[in-house]
Amino acid sequence: MTKIVAKLFLKWAGGKTQLIKQIKTQLPQSIIENNFTYIEPFVGSGAILFWMLQRFPNMQKVVINEFNFRY
Ligand SMILES: C[S@@+](CC[C@H](N)C(=O)[O-])C[C@H]1O[C@@H](n2cnc3c(N)ncnc32)[C@H](O)[C@@H]1O
Repeated sequence: MTKIVAKLFLKWAGGKTQLIKQIKTQLPQSIIENNFTYIEPFVGSGAILFWMLQRFPNMQKVVINEFNFRY
């Protein structure tokens, strides 16, 4: 079976890629053991979202939001 890996496709000011190590230590054990919904109100480039999608196959739903008013 082919494994599809979602990857980050944008570089974003304020992206949290460098903080993944620290964020990982703060995640509750329950998200490893149980199905869960991931909600991210300020998704930006989705650095954390894409990392979560790869790392936690038991993520059942994703709710994201983004509003970029600098255009
Ligand atoms: C620092 S970035 C998010 C980084 C991202 N969570 C990651 O994984 O790297 C913050 C984002 O919040 C968005 N934002 C700011 N104010 C917002 C608002 N009121 N509603 C929704 N998104 C907003 C910005 O456009 C920006 O993309």
